[in-house]
Amino acid sequence: MKQIDYRKAQLQEVSRTWLVTGVAGFIGSNLLEELLGMGQDVVGLDNFSTGKPENLMAVKEAVGDAAWQRFRFHEADIRNLTECKNLCTGVDVVLHQAALGSVPRSIEDPITTNQSNLDGFLNMLVAARDAHVKRFVYAASSSTYGDHPGLPKVEDKIGRPLSPYAVTKYVNELYADVFARTYGMETIGLRYFNVFGKRQDPQGAYAAVIPKWAGQLLHLEVPTIHGDGQTSRDFCYIDNVVQINLLSATAEKQEALNKVYNVAFGERTTLNELFRMIKEGVAVSQPEVRDIEPHYGPERTGDVRHSLADISLAQELLGYDPQVDVRTGMVATVKWYIDNMG
Ligand SMILES: NC(=O)c1ccc[n+]([C@@H]2O[C@H](COP(=O)([O-])OP(=O)(O)OC[C@H]3O[C@@H](n4cnc5c(N)ncnc54)[C@H](O)[C@@H]3O)[C@@H](O)[C@H]2O)c1
Repeated sequence: MKQIDYRKAQLQEVSRTWLVTGVAGFIGSNLLEELLGMGQDVVGLDNFSTGKPENLMAVKEAVGDAAWQRFRFHEADIRNLTECKNLCTGVDVVLHQAALGSVPRSIEDPITTNQSNLDGFLNMLVAARDAHVKRFVYAASSSTYGDHPGLPKVEDKIGRPLSPYAVTKYVNELYADVFARTYGMETIGLRYFNVFGKRQDPQGAYAAVIPKWAGQLLHLEVPTIHGDGQTSRDFCYIDNVVQINLLSATAEKQEALNKVYNVAFGERTTLNELFRMIKEGVAVSQPEVRDIEPHYGPERTGDVRHSLADISLAQELLGYDPQVDVRTGMVATVKWYIDNMG
């Protein structure tokens, strides 16, 4: 039996109470859908800064009314310690996703990014500590590798951060480590590489590349590739991210705790390849996109040239076994954008 199936069976036998922060966002709403589908009790918080009520409504529709009864949503802000403390009460596991993503946003407005990503993070750690939460799993980021040239990326070899966003995500790891050693908390940090899948926001100046290009191609607009298109990333489908959150929340081996893990598929895709994959997917419903070629623009500040994860630590200590590769995940994702935006 696969580790994830064993863990899920265990959870279905003895359910837990989870707090998902950033629950109205892309990753948070996918975690919520999985947890409610497994009969868990979930408390969710979000301030709707980038998350959307529609994402919650989509989960409600997917899981049905009975499962939805096991969810309590609070519009709350992690910059408010009292709200964090109230919501951690009675919770077994925190899956902390709330943060302001986007490197360019943090370059334009480092103060607001710092408030949510660092002050908010510390509030959540303190609240979880005081409520004796059993496990604190949090969204870290591959941006922590910064200017370290090594490939593939291994967890203990990092460089200097290249953006304010990367600073906040790195300091999250430092705080989690100190809280584990000082207060005996059990924490696990998940360094997400570029995650994609349904409900990732295609709108706005800070949209991630996959939803942005899918949205543009669906409207027959020409996407811009920053640089020559040979920049590469280890794109990770959302189902793999959900899997590792469940494994982290339920890990029992002491040596697996109080660590950070790469979360990726373990394969590199260039932006040119990515563009072709998305175009093929959109062409299923709109054959006209076949004629669209990308516009090549200047490179973006704060971007790293290549990113590829070594995922062996998570495989070894958590039993992580990513099931969905980029191509398969892309077909499902583009189909979702066609059905929901076309
Ligand atoms: N998507 C990726 O590729 C990726 C990569 C690395 C790390 N991450 C991290 O994963 C987490 C989730 O990212 P996502 O892609 O789902 O982004 P998202 O923007 O869709 O979700 C983040 C959610 O947090 C909420 N939020 C932000 N600030 C808040 C605050 N102060 N109080 C309460 N809620 C707040 C937003 O409204 C949103 O719903 C973030 O911590 C992000 O930094 C994501």
